[in-house]
Amino acid sequence: MLVLGVETSCDETAAAVVDEQFAVHSNIIWSQEDHALYGGVVPELASRAHIRYLVPVVAKALEDAGVDWRAIDGIATTRGPGLVGSLIVGLSLAKGLALAQKKPLVGVHHLEGHIFSNLVEDRVETPFLTLLVSGGHTELILVEELGTYKMLGRTRDDAAGEAFDKVAKLLDLLPKEGVIMGGRIIAELAAQGDPQAIDFPRGLAGEPDFSFSGLKTAVLNYVRGLASPERERQLPDIAASFQEAVVDALVVKTVAALERANIKAVCLAGGVAANQRLRQRLRDEIESRDLPFYCPSHALCTDNAVMIGAVGAFYLNRGVRDGLDLDAAPRLSLC
Ligand code: KG4
Ligand code: ZN
Repeated sequence: MLVLGVETSCDETAAAVVDEQFAVHSNIIWSQEDHALYGGVVPELASRAHIRYLVPVVAKALEDAGVDWRAIDGIATTRGPGLVGSLIVGLSLAKGLALAQKKPLVGVHHLEGHIFSNLVEDRVETPFLTLLVSGGHTELILVEELGTYKMLGRTRDDAAGEAFDKVAKLLDLLPKEGVIMGGRIIAELAAQGDPQAIDFPRGLAGEPDFSFSGLKTAVLNYVRGLASPERERQLPDIAASFQEAVVDALVVKTVAALERANIKAVCLAGGVAANQRLRQRLRDEIESRDLPFYCPSHALCTDNAVMIGAVGAFYLNRGVRDGLDLDAAPRLSLC
């Protein structure tokens, strides 16, 4: 079975062809550059960019897979959560294609996609725990079996990636053009700094949920107290200490969650999973407890359509279908 996956929930315009074993036949991602001038994703610009790029992105996904429509057995598209205008562009194209090409359609939960991103390159035994950390989400999800999920912890305010992005912005590190990835810029700067230099707060210590807004305010208050040359000199230490506070909170709460369920493996997913410090510290903690640790390659950490196609293949293979009345669900919850 070959499935076309479509992902347009935020500012990545993506299409991919995958099969029911989750093998990747093609993977096309257009990261929109239209938002850099504004220092964050502008929903209206994102929808318009999806309208411009999605048709060529889908055509290229089929071309790279070396197939035409006759070989495609179904279409999977993200139905939520995400920016409503962006979701509607992907859904509308997927519905139109399903109708025109007479293919079954299935709507996919974006977070289930991130969970499946770990199944593309590895076979992971259930029940497993996924720490999902992205620009919009910070969640600890117990995967009892594929399709059955339980929330063990979530952020009460900012997502981890959002904290990286906001701190990059307040430190004035964001580029004026190109793709905005505050987390990547902070991580590069942090590599030259001392993670113990500044003792930033770790939110909600001892609780299963996360909180990053206090940490962001602490960074803001710290830099406000510094004169400009001193601020410049301390930037690597500020970045490293901030990153360490985020990583500490994520690692401590993930390890604590292991006590609360029968867990056979731990997976890291989402855009922040590209963070080298987080990958290494979590791997060390999990493997020291004799559990396997999985993390997707970088291209599958950030938003992509491979993970959406994989979820689609899983459900289509079990006979799940959605009708052409499938609607966008910007606030869809997973469990
Ligand atoms: O999963 P994703 O592509 O989009 C959402 O669904 O939100 O994640 C994007 C997020 C951004 O907040 C970005 O700053 C963050 O992932 N990110 C990183 C790194 N690379 C991307 N955060 C920390 N360290 C990185 N190396
Ligand atoms: Zn995402």
